[in-house]
Amino acid sequence: MIGRVLVVDDEKALVLALKGLLKKEGYQVEVAYSGEEAIEKIEPGAFHLIVTDLSLGGVSGMDVLAYAREVDPDVAVVMITAYGSEKIAVEAMKLGASDYIPKPFDNDEIRVVVRKVMETALLRRDHQRLLQQVQEAYGFEQIVGNSRPMQRIFSMIEKVADADVTVLVRGPSGTGKELVANAVHYRSPRRRRAMVKMNCAALSQELVESELFGHEKGAFTGAVARREGKFEAANGGTLFLDEVGDMPLETQAKLLRAIQEREFERVGGNQSIQVDVRLIAATNQDLEAGVKAGTFREDLYYRLKVVEVVLPALVERREDIPLLIDCFLKSAAERFGRDPKPLTGDALRAAMAHSWPGNVRELKSAVEQALLLSGGDEITSSDLLGSGSAGDGVELGTIVVGDQPSTFREAKERTVEHFERSFLEGALRRSGGNITRAAEAVGMYRQSFQQKMRELGITADQAMNGEQKGV
Ligand SMILES: Nc1ncnc2c1ncn2[C@@H]1O[C@H](COP(=O)(O)OP(=O)(O)OP(=O)(O)O)[C@@H](O)[C@H]1O
Ligand SMILES: [Mg+2]
Repeated sequence: MIGRVLVVDDEKALVLALKGLLKKEGYQVEVAYSGEEAIEKIEPGAFHLIVTDLSLGGVSGMDVLAYAREVDPDVAVVMITAYGSEKIAVEAMKLGASDYIPKPFDNDEIRVVVRKVMETALLRRDHQRLLQQVQEAYGFEQIVGNSRPMQRIFSMIEKVADADVTVLVRGPSGTGKELVANAVHYRSPRRRRAMVKMNCAALSQELVESELFGHEKGAFTGAVARREGKFEAANGGTLFLDEVGDMPLETQAKLLRAIQEREFERVGGNQSIQVDVRLIAATNQDLEAGVKAGTFREDLYYRLKVVEVVLPALVERREDIPLLIDCFLKSAAERFGRDPKPLTGDALRAAMAHSWPGNVRELKSAVEQALLLSGGDEITSSDLLGSGSAGDGVELGTIVVGDQPSTFREAKERTVEHFERSFLEGALRRSGGNITRAAEAVGMYRQSFQQKMRELGITADQAMNGEQKGV
């Protein structure tokens, strides 16, 4: 990692000499010719080290030190002091300076001090990042699932994690796209470097670009200081672009270039910045439709979908539901400090039959709420799905899809059949098994009602007993 240094002095010649010297040492060097200028340039994460003269005219080196400590507690400061001002130098060290260099100094002295201080500064940042990663890894949620589609996803994650290729994670909302992205990063050789996340939705083009690529001071109204973008922050690690399908078209071109050339410019800047970043993108949008409609660039589309991981909706892997419920119950119980409660058989059946339009996220919050709200020793279907599901009401939102991928027509037929069955059975239950009254109540001719019952193989007795078939 290259260290970034800010050199501050009001003697122009000295600044340029130091700049040349430190650049030769391999650092990235910026300069400021006054304390005021330095303060404008200092912001969190902008520099690893500031080398400042103590006396600068207006804002002094001590002020710069105090400001830097406040804005960016991680930045190291080395003070250049006039001959004989050791006392102030000690004062500076007390205020948090890492070291001082008395004038006159020779180049070797500078080299040695800067190298030593920089090493410590970089180590400290690494250390902090590692700590954060350990925490993340500790809290890194297990992806739960045993169904065939999920097994396929697990083996895909294992395969692509190492490969450093761009991964596009797709699937409806709440299906675990972010979990998959995390898993890819934490199983990749980049796991010890940062994983930086960015949501591309609901931001203006200007904001998305400045978030992605950073901006120079004055690039636009409100850009009061230079700012590093997510691409830079992710250097050496992984950049997760969430909701990439919502990225403004103009920004897509810049993203494509950053991916292809591995370089970009900050907004309002002309210096090109090189980065080494692995990209993971996620979307629940139909990108193919976006390409057709001209809202998503085709070339970017192909760049992103080098490897595609497609998460199926929860109804397409119903067999995972019991396992998911079990896991969510355990973790919720732990979190809320309660004992886990079992589900009644009815509740489990209802959960298996439910359509879960919000997918795993919805299931998770339903389980958490049920645990909190349930009064008895067991979680009932009304605890889990609300009272509507326990009674005779017809659940209109149910979509019935089998384990195998199905065509739209098959899925629709099965869904309609499911709807008709529960509708008729509900009507029969409410009429106490009286077909004439059931038909009347739902505005059907008795003959058509009976005809439908025959088609679906429903008998009045079976409907009364609440048996569910075909789910
Ligand atoms: N297979 C799974 N195992 C355990 N938890 C899961 C699983 N899938 C999803 N979750 C949980 O469901 C919630 C939603 O997951 P996540 O944020 O990854 O979904 P998403 O696909 O990114 O959704 P969106 O499109 O809305 O952003 C999270 O709390 C996540 O922990
Ligand atoms: Mg998400």
